[in-house]
Amino acid sequence: MPRCLLITGASRGLGRALTEAYAAEGWRVHAIARHAHDLGTVPNVWVHEMELTDRKSIATLRTRFAEERLELVINNAGTWGPKAQDLGPIDAEAWIDAFRVNAMVPYYVAEALADPLARGRGTVVTITSRMGSIGDNGSGGDYVYRSSKAAANMVVRSLARDLAPRGIGAVALHPGWVRTEMGGPEAPLSIQESVDMMRRTIAGLTLKDSGKFLNLDGNALPW
Ligand SMILES: NC(=O)c1ccc[n+]([C@@H]2O[C@H](COP(=O)([O-])OP(=O)(O)OC[C@H]3O[C@@H](n4cnc5c(N)ncnc54)[C@H](OP(=O)(O)O)[C@@H]3O)[C@@H](O)[C@H]2O)c1
Repeated sequence: MPRCLLITGASRGLGRALTEAYAAEGWRVHAIARHAHDLGTVPNVWVHEMELTDRKSIATLRTRFAEERLELVINNAGTWGPKAQDLGPIDAEAWIDAFRVNAMVPYYVAEALADPLARGRGTVVTITSRMGSIGDNGSGGDYVYRSSKAAANMVVRSLARDLAPRGIGAVALHPGWVRTEMGGPEAPLSIQESVDMMRRTIAGLTLKDSGKFLNLDGNALPW
């Protein structure tokens, strides 16, 4: 039976590259994206058009995968949030929107897919960010992104505790600073470099790693 994974934010950037890499390796990949796109023509990829901030989509996710067996779920969809997010006026609605995408959707996805994950003795990998590390924050600013990713880290930590009895792992993973739309052209890592390292780290995960916040190379990061 082919190994099966589900990934969010598969339309572009890291999510798209992860989707293509796992599919090329023979995994059956369920790619969640807000808009249908050409990924549907890639062998081994099934595209599901969904807006995961909408609770109806989460209900659909639960029923659509009720009988599946998932070995891996990658919570990858994420947003930087509003442009202005240093000390000063910050758009509160945009802050809430970013919180929804970065911190709440990973919870709802993991909770909705707990049964298929338990069947696959699977792991939920949430792509958070070093910018969500409280211990590593030496420069301040970026309130929206930092706070929503710190919240995502806390969600992962609780998931790790709560899902352990069912044999499901939960890990927070920093992908490095990568040249995507979000990372920008100055970032040191190519998408390929980040994806190769993350996949190596994910392949080596065991239940002992559950509850950890990891750099893409597998080393632990401060919370
Ligand atoms: N690039 C970096 O340097 C870096 C560093 C640390 C962490 N990360 C994290 O890595 C993950 C992937 O980022 P990326 O660099 O690949 O960024 P990206 O190229 O901007 O892609 C973001 C992905 O998230 C999806 N997304 C954004 N807002 C969404 C929403 N409201 N609802 C559903 N999906 C939404 C996008 O879908 P649409 O195409 O529909 O907009 C897209 O697939 C994110 O969680 C990000 O925070 C990135």
